[in-house]
Amino acid sequence: MQQIIRPLLIVIGIIMLLSIITGWVAALTIPPITNHQEQMSDNSFNLQTGSAPIGDTNVEKLVKVLNKAYSDEWFAYHQYWIGSKIVRGPNKEAVIAILTLHATEENQHVVLLLTRIIQLGGTPVLEPRDWYRLTYCGYDAPTDPDVIKVLEQNIKSEQCSINMYNNLLVETRDKDPVTYTIVLGILQMEVEHKEDLQALLDDTIVMTNP
Ligand SMILES: [Fe+2]
Repeated sequence: MQQIIRPLLIVIGIIMLLSIITGWVAALTIPPITNHQEQMSDNSFNLQTGSAPIGDTNVEKLVKVLNKAYSDEWFAYHQYWIGSKIVRGPNKEAVIAILTLHATEENQHVVLLLTRIIQLGGTPVLEPRDWYRLTYCGYDAPTDPDVIKVLEQNIKSEQCSINMYNNLLVETRDKDPVTYTIVLGILQMEVEHKEDLQALLDDTIVMTNP
C-alpha cells in the first residue's frame, strides 16, 4: 500500500509546486488592473472632470487651437461692445440692442473656451497682447461709426468665426466629444448672430433708401 501512496504524494507535491510557480510568473507578467482615470493619467488629461478626449487627440495642439479661438472671442466681444457705444445713423437703437446682446454672448463663448482649456490641463492666454499673435480672424476696429459700416464689419467677423469653428468641428469630431459639443454650440450661435446682423443690415439699408 505504501508503495502506491508514496509516488502519489510525490506527484501531488509536484503539481502543487508547479501551481505556485505558475502563479508567481502570472503575477509578474500580467499588468495590474487599472481604473479608467489611471489609464488616462498617461495622456496628461484632466482627471477631475472626467472629460478627457478619446482616440488620438493631441491635447497640446487642441489647447493651442482653443487658445486661438479664445483670443478671437475676446476680440469679437470687444468689437461688438465698442461698436454699440459709437455707432451712429438710422435704426441706431435696434443696432445698439443687437450689438449689446451679441457682446454678452461672445463673452459667454470666452468663458466656455476658457473652461475647456483648463479642463484639458492647458493655460488660457494670459496676456491680451498675445491675442493679436494668436487670432484667426484678426480685429477690425470700428473706425467708421456709420451704422452700415459697423454692421458690415461685424458680419465679416462672424463669417470668419463660422469658418474657424467649422474647422474646429472637423478636428474634434470622433476624437473629443466634449470639445466638439462646445464648439457646435458656439457655432450655432455665430450663425444666428450673422443672420441677425444681415437682417438688420437689410432693414437699415431700406430705411436709408426708402
Ligand atoms: Fe463667439
